Amino acid sequence: MIIGSDPKAQYLALKQEIDQAIGNVLASGRYVLGDETNEFEREFADYIGTGHCIGVGNGTDALELALRACGVGQGDEVITVSHTAVATVAAIVQSGATPVLIDVDPNSYTMSIDQLEPALSENTKAIIPVHLYGHPAHMPALMKLVEGTDIRVIEDCAQAHGAAIEGKKVGNFGDIACFSFYPTKNLSAIGDGGAVTTSDSALAKQLRLLREYGWEERFHSSQLGRNSRLDEIQAAILRVKLRHLDEFNLARKNIAKIYNEKLSELGLGLPNCEASYEHVYHQYVIRSQKRDALLKSLGEAKILAGIHYPLPVHRQAAYAEMAIMSGDLSTTDTLCDEILSLPIYPELGQQVHDVVAGVKAFHH
Ligand SMILES: Cc1ncc(COP(=O)(O)O)c(C=O)c1O
Repeated sequence: MIIGSDPKAQYLALKQEIDQAIGNVLASGRYVLGDETNEFEREFADYIGTGHCIGVGNGTDALELALRACGVGQGDEVITVSHTAVATVAAIVQSGATPVLIDVDPNSYTMSIDQLEPALSENTKAIIPVHLYGHPAHMPALMKLVEGTDIRVIEDCAQAHGAAIEGKKVGNFGDIACFSFYPTKNLSAIGDGGAVTTSDSALAKQLRLLREYGWEERFHSSQLGRNSRLDEIQAAILRVKLRHLDEFNLARKNIAKIYNEKLSELGLGLPNCEASYEHVYHQYVIRSQKRDALLKSLGEAKILAGIHYPLPVHRQAAYAEMAIMSGDLSTTDTLCDEILSLPIYPELGQQVHDVVAGVKAFHH
């Protein structure tokens, strides 16, 4: 049996509730932007603690539309990290702005606040911190740095549904925040889905226009928009899963605890979680000087570990030329050679011990 990620396990665990929810949508005859989407938006905004949530097609669209809603476009610079899913940077490019890539800090693997200040310029219009792997970025320090400026802060929460700092959930610190509901995320659809959260009513209104052709009312475009809508079936599934999100995150934390305990003697770099930060372990990422050999050995034992990410954005052919690299990106470069994501998802169960055995076997 292969151990890796298994989105079907969550469907099977909630089959009755999900089948019922899908059946209700099918019977309703309303398949896009209906009651399920409205209810999900209200429930997710309540969960995060923001005034508004706007469902969109996927997490990349969420970022692009958030940038547009903030008025970001050609000639503007948007600062983010090179150590992220390429989607973060793809969205900046789609908005017309220039990405400015900085390093991550070596403990949390999130945006280095030390590197942020020198990257600011008169063209900086927005900053996108990424709550990578489920660990919150250093939002209090970041927000302090931009206090009194016009710079917009857009949180990339695609990997951090439910993560928090001192009890306050991510998605609730900056001006606006973006979520992905890709099938392996902590809160996941059975297909693509995304959302934007904000407490700024003007931004929320703008996002609702942008996601549907700029329509102020049906068939009347007051501005340029596009189509990026959350469909009713995905919204209904997300409502079911949102009710279980805290329980899913707890299961991930328990798996992380087992890895932390059982792998502590092997000389590997294990994930850190800073005091008063709540990590939701979208990924459990270890560091090893022998990463490639360990990956191969686990693969031979049918354990599919991953690398998030093997090539930093500043070294990707599509982005290397157009992005501005700011400062030293050495932590990012080192991480890419050493990181390995061990299987982690709420339904992993006792297989966590097989993964531990596989990692130990390599070290003996
Ligand atoms: C950090 C990060 N940002 C953005 C995205 C984009 O989300 P999506 O795949 O839903 O477009 C992802 C997911 O792949 C992600 O992990």
